[in-house]
Amino acid sequence: MFGQKPKSTIIERVKSTKNKKSPVTFVRRYWLIASLIILPLLASLVFNNWYNAHIDQSISQANANTSQLLKKANDQLVANAKLRAEAKAAREKAANEAADAARTANESTVSTINSSACNTASSHSNPANIDVLVNKKHCLQPLSYAPGDLVTSNGATLSAKAISAYNQLFAAAAAAGQGFSVTSSYRSYGDQVSTYNYWVSVSGKEGADTYSARPGYSEHQTGLAFDVAAGSCVLDCFGATSQYQWLQANAADYGFIQRYYAGYENITGYKAEEWHYRYVGTAVAKDMQARGIKTLEQYWDILGGGYYY
Ligand code: DAL
Ligand code: ZN
Repeated sequence: MFGQKPKSTIIERVKSTKNKKSPVTFVRRYWLIASLIILPLLASLVFNNWYNAHIDQSISQANANTSQLLKKANDQLVANAKLRAEAKAAREKAANEAADAARTANESTVSTINSSACNTASSHSNPANIDVLVNKKHCLQPLSYAPGDLVTSNGATLSAKAISAYNQLFAAAAAAGQGFSVTSSYRSYGDQVSTYNYWVSVSGKEGADTYSARPGYSEHQTGLAFDVAAGSCVLDCFGATSQYQWLQANAADYGFIQRYYAGYENITGYKAEEWHYRYVGTAVAKDMQARGIKTLEQYWDILGGGYYY
């Protein structure tokens, strides 16, 4: 009994260590309090690490998805651009082919023109003179002839040789209350290519040849001819107007003739054109009027009619 020390209670043990200053004593004394603070901190640390790792993974995944989407969108843009470029190239190719076809068609028309076959006249063949005769058998020489003395006045572009007579005719018609306008006057070889090809597209070659001259065969290219209209009445209706009656009575006094009359198609080569006037000078115009001669082919005894080919 005397030699055995009785067992101490926890309180006694805490009390007994109260004055001991070692770290072990300190930890042992506050282990419960310490564990209540440190464990949650540790848990929070672990959770934060896990959470951050998870977020990083999500962000990486989202970045990967975004990159994939961007790449897909970019691929689509590249594919669309390629399609557009292909469509543009196809359109340009078609346009070039159409232009080539038009050029070939035009060249084939022009290549059939043989100047020695289409102008055999020894007189009335100089397009710089007002006595030139141009018809389907007498083309311009050269085919691309252009007057060097063009003047524009009162809505018409004509050779200087015809312009003052035209101005007087224009003013006299207006003074008589029979004013007219001009819808076409000088046309270059190139203009006639477009004009003739347009009418071929409307009526076919055979149809167009009855009323539109081939390039190099039009009086309009001499700068001595013009077409008139009365208000909104253009082309076919002109023959029924008072302006037409006035021109029939007075145009010769100024040196102009109607070039294509009805009933003379086999001689001139063209259907009647009540609107087409040609300057030949007052001597010829008045003489034709006085003698009732309706065509230049008859007046100068030069062959007309259709083309040689
Ligand atoms: N309409 C006439 C014939 C020409 O084209 O010159
Ligand atoms: Zn005309």
